Amino acid sequence: MRQAGRYLPEYRRVRARAGSFLDLCYTPELAVEVTLQPIRRYAFDAAILFSDILVVPDALGVPVSFIEGRGPVLEPVRRSEDIERLQPARLAEHLDPVYRTVAMLADALPEPVALIGFAGAPWTLAAYVVEGESTRDFAMTRRMARTEPDLFARLIDLLSDATIAHLSAQIEAGAQAVQLFDSWAGILPETEFERWCVLPLKTIARTLHERHPEVPVIVFPRGAGFGYRRFADERSIAALGLDPTVPLEDARRMLGHRCLQGNLDPVALLAGGQAMFDEIDRIVRTLSGTPFVFNLGHGVMPETDPDHVAALVERVREPAASRTRDG
Ligand code: CP3
Repeated sequence: MRQAGRYLPEYRRVRARAGSFLDLCYTPELAVEVTLQPIRRYAFDAAILFSDILVVPDALGVPVSFIEGRGPVLEPVRRSEDIERLQPARLAEHLDPVYRTVAMLADALPEPVALIGFAGAPWTLAAYVVEGESTRDFAMTRRMARTEPDLFARLIDLLSDATIAHLSAQIEAGAQAVQLFDSWAGILPETEFERWCVLPLKTIARTLHERHPEVPVIVFPRGAGFGYRRFADERSIAALGLDPTVPLEDARRMLGHRCLQGNLDPVALLAGGQAMFDEIDRIVRTLSGTPFVFNLGHGVMPETDPDHVAALVERVREPAASRTRDG
């Protein structure tokens, strides 16, 4: 989940110096700096590369900008000609600064801190490029998927290939695990979910796993509900990222044979205090005994007090420490 970002004053300072958000993503020295900031502050076990899922459409030739208070804005891709104009051949060169950032991070991070690379899943990327911005229900994208499934499949296939190339390049530059963010998986009805979320994610995971069997692939199909079960027996997927709405007892029963990651509600982190500790303890209690990575269920909110994150880290580490003390 998002580690760096506007909740940290040191991030806001670098961000102001960089100019635009994408300039920050494409300037290796600055992207390295903001990746390391939360590691210095909190000594997390793993660092997530500072970048964005929308660098992939940007590299394909869909101009992307980030507008304060509005989020990302893209030139919409809706017709066959728009898809024709996408340029997969530009990807490697355009994203070279990202791979240089990964290589510099691999050198800079202290030994036990793992470096996680990431990309957006094809469905979520398609949702942004078809709409051209975040919308309430991504209705235009869902309509295109139903009314022009062959055209939409071309877009999804192109984005899948680009995602494989982007994650392979991050792994070759030094990423030790990769995560696929399908942030809008939860808006797909059953049959569409299979076609546009499950199949592309499995294809990407299998290809990466064949090429780099030592690198864990984590998938995060946010809001997928029972749909999480569709990934439960896929061996090329090393871990499942759970969003905050997933009932944990059910997850343990249905998915507990796999490594699970999650799922603290970012609003519990925003609230802090005893309510946050209770939530943390419940998650740790329910999922210890299964392979488990403590994480948020979605990104840190910009209004979050940085001290709450410090308190969270201390709380998560506490039980393990006291277990050791008790022998
Ligand atoms: O934590 C890290 O350091 C990793 C970097 C990271 C960012 N975005 C940086 C970012 C990661 C892993 C992402 C993923 C991402 N980006 C997702 C998937 C996860 C999720 O949140 O569902 C999505 C959907 C995006 C697209 C995106 N990028 C949106 C919708 C926005 C605007 C939202 C907002 O809060 O304004 C962004 C901008 C963005 N990406 C910021 C950061 C730190 C804030 C930009 C800023 O500094 O102004």
